[in-house]
Amino acid sequence: MDVAAGLTRVRERIAAACSRAGRDPASVRLVAVSKTKPVEMLRAAQAAGQSIFGENYAQDLREKADALPGVEWHFIGALQTNKAKLVVGRAALIHTCDRIALAQELSKRATSAGLTQRVLLEVNVGREPQKAGALPEDVPALLEKVRALPSLAPLGLMCIPPAEGDPRAHFRSLRQLGQGLGLTELSMGMSADYEIAIEEGATLVRVGTAIFGERGA
Ligand SMILES: Cc1ncc(COP(=O)(O)O)c(C=O)c1O
Repeated sequence: MDVAAGLTRVRERIAAACSRAGRDPASVRLVAVSKTKPVEMLRAAQAAGQSIFGENYAQDLREKADALPGVEWHFIGALQTNKAKLVVGRAALIHTCDRIALAQELSKRATSAGLTQRVLLEVNVGREPQKAGALPEDVPALLEKVRALPSLAPLGLMCIPPAEGDPRAHFRSLRQLGQGLGLTELSMGMSADYEIAIEEGATLVRVGTAIFGERGA
């Protein structure tokens, strides 16, 4: 996989989707999902101008952040409370805050590190029992509690819609939920559907396979 070529293609498609939607391309940030990919591939992406990378595992984030300075890291995986300390301060944005116990731990760790941790609330838009994320109707109360915690800045919402079916309605409902709550960031869209997500208002798209190729088993 030619990482630079993959990035170019994705950037072109982002620009085209923005143009269709009448959006400024600067309003969409590309998170290159580098989960399981070796640091050399991240370096190639960095050399091609990519500055934001998304990691799913706390341990990997720590190792890659040590190996690769000058990157804006985003944490996009399921986060266990006992791993919060590895992520706070390392990740510029945590996309997967989905419960109050985790928010409390992130707040505690951020406070003792003397920083403000930016987070997104993950929403289970498809109401899938096996998936992480707060149910849409529970998001307003969760947000209110998160807003009351010190050292946490909730900026927006994130979702992973069901693998089957048309994601557009889910993206749209996430945007409407965020609008009603005064949240501006929307993390939605992966390799298969980031153009649709942009048409529906995504401000952060998380793209792995289309940049780095398939992940091994
Ligand atoms: C939360 C999240 N977002 C985005 C991606 C990237 O998916 P894709 O490789 O289909 O672009 C992944 C991949 O594991 C992910 O876990």
